[in-house]
Amino acid sequence: MKIISTPNELKEYLKNTQQSIGFQANQSIGFVPTMGALHEGHISLIKKARKENEIVVVSIFINPTQFLKGEDLDNYPKRDEADKQICKLSGVDVLFFPHAKDIYTEDEVSILAPKVRGYVLEGTSRPSHFDGVLTVVMKLLNIVNPTTAYFGKKDAQQLYLISLMVKQMFMSVNIVAVDTVRESDGLAMSSRNIYLSQQERREALKISASLYQAGKMISQKILDTKIIISKMRETLEPLEISYVAILNRDFELARHVEIGNTLILVEAKVGTTRLLDNLWL
Ligand code: PAF
Repeated sequence: MKIISTPNELKEYLKNTQQSIGFQANQSIGFVPTMGALHEGHISLIKKARKENEIVVVSIFINPTQFLKGEDLDNYPKRDEADKQICKLSGVDVLFFPHAKDIYTEDEVSILAPKVRGYVLEGTSRPSHFDGVLTVVMKLLNIVNPTTAYFGKKDAQQLYLISLMVKQMFMSVNIVAVDTVRESDGLAMSSRNIYLSQQERREALKISASLYQAGKMISQKILDTKIIISKMRETLEPLEISYVAILNRDFELARHVEIGNTLILVEAKVGTTRLLDNLWL
């Protein structure tokens, strides 16, 4: 596995690699952008990329522009050596590990998240978070120039906005959504789970439990979103709920669940840790 830290070196390396393996139209680059602290969720993205592409690139970059003042940028988990091992063992060809100075200069051009869908849900408590996400993803996609980029469904709003950016900016990369990986008790895997105490870890299970409950109600043909949300809120008590929302796949509020076009999203604070989870129906 090759480890590269500058954009120009990576571009050059990928150009040469593609040429040396005899570039044909179907020789693809699969790309998994991450902020490190890799867990089973990331590994499933990498495995999918490995299965579907000739060349697999993973980036590890804790992107400062997506953290708001006072957020956990400085304390964001860093596990560089373990991450490198995970990438190596998962069959990654190239690990892109830039420093902030390799990605950002001063007085930058940036991407702004859409004014409505970028500023609701997670964007309400974290205004400008998605500007930072979209800007860095645009930069990374331009550096790697992948055929396909892989993102987790757990960050559903991020996934939606990245797909929207790709469509609206007429970019040619395919965006693939990969299912959330869960612990055996249902907790969605997240780099932030390591912040949870044992007690908080138990409380956090209310989040996935609320989604299972929604799924159960829907299987009993209860499709009114108000009724489902109110039951989910009961299950989530006493957690501090940021939002429980039922949307269609265009990220508009839905009054009724429609199988194949519904997304149930939850964000709640457990101790000081904000956790996201969702159910795709
Ligand atoms: O989901 C993440 O880890 C980050 O938001 C991403 C997409 C790598 C951009 O920094």
